[in-house]
Amino acid sequence: MRTRDHRGFSQPHDDKKMAKDFERMEDSNPSANPTIHEVSDPKRRVFVRGGLAAAVAGLFGPLVAGTLAGCATTPSGSPVSSLGRAIGFKSVPMAAVDRIVVPEGYSAQVLYRWGDATGIAGRMPAFKADGSNTADEQALQAGMHHDGMAFFPLDGSNRGLLVLNHEYVDDGLLHPDGMKTWTAEKVRKSMNAHGVSVIELQREGAKWSQVLPSRFARRITALTPMTLTGPAAGHPMLRTAGDPTGTQVLGTYNNCSNGQTPWGTYLTCEENFADYFEGTGTPDAHQKRWGIKKGNGAKYRWHEHEARFDVAKHPNESNRYGWVVEIDPQDPASTPRKRTALGRAAHEGAATALTNDGRAVIYMGEDSRFEYIYKFVSRDKVQPGGAAANRELLDHGTLYVGRFDVDGTGEWLPLVQGRNGLVADKGFATQGDVLIKARQASDLLGATKMDRPEWTTVDPLTKEVYCTLTNNSNRGTPGQPFMDAANPRSSNTMGQIIRWKENGDLDATKFAWNHLVLAGDPKQSRYEAQGNIKGDAFGSPDGLMVDARGVLWIETDVSTSTLGKGEYANLPNNQMLACDPTQGEIRRFLLGPAGCEVTGLTATPDLRTLFINVQHPGEPANERSDPERPLAVSKWPDGAGRPRSATVAITKNDGGVIGT
Ligand code: FEO
Ligand code: CA
Ligand code: CA
Repeated sequence: MRTRDHRGFSQPHDDKKMAKDFERMEDSNPSANPTIHEVSDPKRRVFVRGGLAAAVAGLFGPLVAGTLAGCATTPSGSPVSSLGRAIGFKSVPMAAVDRIVVPEGYSAQVLYRWGDATGIAGRMPAFKADGSNTADEQALQAGMHHDGMAFFPLDGSNRGLLVLNHEYVDDGLLHPDGMKTWTAEKVRKSMNAHGVSVIELQREGAKWSQVLPSRFARRITALTPMTLTGPAAGHPMLRTAGDPTGTQVLGTYNNCSNGQTPWGTYLTCEENFADYFEGTGTPDAHQKRWGIKKGNGAKYRWHEHEARFDVAKHPNESNRYGWVVEIDPQDPASTPRKRTALGRAAHEGAATALTNDGRAVIYMGEDSRFEYIYKFVSRDKVQPGGAAANRELLDHGTLYVGRFDVDGTGEWLPLVQGRNGLVADKGFATQGDVLIKARQASDLLGATKMDRPEWTTVDPLTKEVYCTLTNNSNRGTPGQPFMDAANPRSSNTMGQIIRWKENGDLDATKFAWNHLVLAGDPKQSRYEAQGNIKGDAFGSPDGLMVDARGVLWIETDVSTSTLGKGEYANLPNNQMLACDPTQGEIRRFLLGPAGCEVTGLTATPDLRTLFINVQHPGEPANERSDPERPLAVSKWPDGAGRPRSATVAITKNDGGVIGT
C-alpha cells in the first residue's frame, strides 16, 4: 500500500459519498499485490493527462464488422449487424425529472412493477399499494429492485420469456410500517422479494403485455432450494448444520447483473451477499477478506429470525453465496445450480460468448473496491440440444483472474490448484479451496485491483470485451492502493470503461487493453472528475451491453446519496447513453425517474424493443424510505401508493431499430 498527499485537488473530497460507499460497498482487500505498475512511470501521465487513445494507439486494429452465426436478424431477414453502428437519435438533455425521458420518436411502456403477479395459474394475488401483501403473496409477485435481465425468444421477437433479477429491498416500502416492528413474517417477505422472476411477454403491434397466466411463470427467491455443483460442491467449507453434504442451498439473493448462455439458460449473479450476514463473535481472516463483519446484519435483519445468517452460529453459511447460479427458464420445475467452477466473488455479471470452436467463455466483474475481473473458459464445447444437452458444461473449465499491465497488455492468470503457488501450505490444497477463496488466490497471483468492476459485455462483431469500473472514491487516498494504468484517477468518483481484445481467440491468456472513456463532467473544477467524454456527461457507469449491430449501451448507477450533489451537481438523475465505439461519441438516450438506478438491459432479436429496468425509484439518500411519506422522492410509476421498481419496454414510434 502507498500513501500520497492530496496536493492538486481543487475540490475537497466528498465525505458523504465516502460514508455512503463505506456503508454499501464492501472494501476488504488488504493484500499487498501490485496496484503499482507505473506509479513512477511517466507513461501514467499520458493516461491521465493526454487521454488514453494516444497511450495505446495501435494495440487495437480497426474494428471490422464481421458476422456471427446466430446473429440477430431483422424481419426482412437481413442481419441487424448490416445496419452498422451509427446512432441516429437526438440527445436527451439532462434534467431533474420524475419520469422516463426518451428521445423524440420513441416510447416507453411500463411492465411488471414490484408486486405485479408473476403469472402462476390460479395464484395471482393483486398488489396492495400500502405494502400489506403477505410474505406468501410476495412469493407470487414481482420482487423489488429489478436489476439484470435477459429476453429469451419463444416466437421470434414477438413473444418471449423475460428473466430478471430482484437485487435487494427497501424495507421502508415493503411493509406498511417499514421496519418499525420486526417479525419472522417480515423477514420471509423480504426474502421472497429477492431473487429472480421468469415472466412471459408478448407484443401486439407496438404494445407489449404480460401473458397471464403463463406455464413458464416462476419466482425464485432467497428460500428456493438449489444445488451446488462443480469442483467445490461438498467441500467442508460449504457444509452446514442444515446441509451436512455441502451441496444443497436455500436460495439466492442480491442478484445483480446476469448472463445469457447460447444454450438457453440464464445466469444470475450473487453480489453483496456479505451485507446479509451478521458477523457477531470475531470473524476470522477468511470471513474478513469476504467482508463479513459485525453490524452487517443491521441493514436487512434476516439473522434475527433466520439463524443461518448469524455467522457466529453458522460460520460456513456465507461460503454458500457469492456464486453464479444457472437457471433453465423453460422448465419451471428445474433446480437452479450454483456453478462453483466459475469461482466465488461478489459477482456483478457473467457476460457469455463462445470460442471459435464453441467453448463457453464467461467474463465476470467483482463489484467491490480493489477487487478483480475474472474469466472462465469451459473445458467442453457447447452441444446442440439446449439446456438438457449442456447440463454439466459449466462444471468443468478453467478460471482466470486479470492482470492489466502498464504497457497496455494484460494476462489471464489461471486460478488452478497446484500452479503458481496455489498449493496446500498456502491454504489451497484442492481446487475447491481455490474457488471458495478466489479472492485470496487472486491476491496471491498478483491480479490487478480494480475500481469496482461492474458489467462486462462482449462485442458480437469484434469480440472486444468492455467492463464498467463504476467508481472508487478510495483510490489513491491515504492508506489505500495507489493509481495504476487501468485505474488511473485518484478519488475516482466518476468511473471509467475499460476494454480489451484477446490475443487471438477468446480463450487466449494474453490481451491488449485500453480505456474507451474516463467518465466525468467537464464542468467540474477537479481535474480527475472531468473525464474525457466525447459527448454527454455521465458518471458511475454500471449496466453495459453491445447490441447486435454493435452499439454500446451504458447505464449509470450514481448512488442516491450522491445524485445532484458535489461532483454530481449537474447530474441529478441516472441515465442511459449510447456509443458507437468506432467513433467514440457518447449520446444520452434516456433519463430515469427521481431516485432510481437505470439497469437491466436486453433486446428482442430484431432490436426493435429494448427492455431496461428502473430500480428503486424514489430511493432517499439513506436508501430506506419513510413508510409514512413513501412518495417523498418519486411518484413513479403509478402517481400514487408507493414507488415501484419496474421493467420498461422502449420502442421506436416508426417501428424501427432502437438507436438508429
Ligand atoms: Fe449491484 Fe454492482 O451493482
Ligand atoms: Ca450493478
Ligand atoms: Ca449498483
